[in-house]
Amino acid sequence: MGGRRGPCSVRPWVNLCRNADAAVPRVPFLPGDDPPGILAAMKSHTDIQSVAVLGAGTMGHGIAHAAALAGYDTRLTDISPEAVTRGLDSIRANLEKGVAKGKVTPEARVAALARLHPAASLEDAVTGADLVVEAAPESLELKREIFRQVGAVAGAGAVLATNTSSLPVGEIAAAAPDPSRVLGMHFFNPVHIMPLLELVRGEATSESTLATALRVGERMGKECIVVRDAPGFATSRLGVVLGLEAMRMLEQDVASAEDIDKAMTLGYRHPVGPLRLTDMIGLDVRLAIADHLHTTLGSEAFRPPELLRRMVAEGKLGRKSGQGFYDWTSIDGLA
Ligand SMILES: NC(=O)c1ccc[n+]([C@@H]2O[C@H](COP(=O)([O-])OP(=O)(O)OC[C@H]3O[C@@H](n4cnc5c(N)ncnc54)[C@H](O)[C@@H]3O)[C@@H](O)[C@H]2O)c1
Repeated sequence: MGGRRGPCSVRPWVNLCRNADAAVPRVPFLPGDDPPGILAAMKSHTDIQSVAVLGAGTMGHGIAHAAALAGYDTRLTDISPEAVTRGLDSIRANLEKGVAKGKVTPEARVAALARLHPAASLEDAVTGADLVVEAAPESLELKREIFRQVGAVAGAGAVLATNTSSLPVGEIAAAAPDPSRVLGMHFFNPVHIMPLLELVRGEATSESTLATALRVGERMGKECIVVRDAPGFATSRLGVVLGLEAMRMLEQDVASAEDIDKAMTLGYRHPVGPLRLTDMIGLDVRLAIADHLHTTLGSEAFRPPELLRRMVAEGKLGRKSGQGFYDWTSIDGLA
């Protein structure tokens, strides 16, 4: 482990190390797995050249950014053409910032932009793509419908991924013709900065599909963890509880939003407080996840607070709408 960013692990399910040597990958082991079988599968991973990203919102444009910068020919589509335009504008601006901060070379920026293409339809984006990443809103029915459409267009060897934060990957996969090629690739916001990629392995996900996703994650410079297809996976299940409890504390007038956030940033060394993070994620996104986890896990800890429902109904979605627990128009000038 040394001074390197450490190996990822979700024990006892997995013992996965970031692959320092692409030629000799270290592989995740799940109970009952046959290591030689996995090694064989690692050799049979799909060589990804092109990526289609479906949905150009908060996550989709970030995934397209990471894919293009990692060297993949990338197509970005959305049911809203304006969302694609906005997404491409954000990618350009974020790459500029990356160059200004010395994190991206000017050459890499130019090359990434040359690899990035808007697509007018799902069919245009998916045709010929080796990897499809769906980043549409958190609705099981919507995602299943998208996977039905993708399955009809994608090539037989393409890997299909959903960026769902909480929904059952197996149920989404069942809408595709070959669920063994489907998995969850759960990126974090902002995708071009956050180092984690949570890979969600459905019941039917093949070793080769997982191996392909691991290699893509590595090429994007992400640290990968592999989790079972359980509600909320590892990240949302823990993160949502904290966010919802912070909202209940705000409702009960325990402290201001700023002070609740400071309790976690200064007292617990969280980089961002739970209310500010909810603003960055989107209150509508958080509400959809909380509703789903409340239903599936049955715990009151996941019941969405009235305050969250009211704010979403009023269009206070956080950073993307300019208003949430914070006024983002004064923080970063977003309207
Ligand atoms: N926001 C976060 O921080 C975050 C983090 C991790 C995962 N996620 C997950 O990522 C997914 C997307 O979330 P988001 O925050 O980017 O949402 P968003 O609302 O910002 O963007 C969703 C985009 O999908 C588009 N869309 C809707 N139907 C579509 C379709 N049929 N085909 C193509 N595009 C379609 C919408 O027009 C919109 O632009 C959700 O499943 C969410 O749970 C979100």
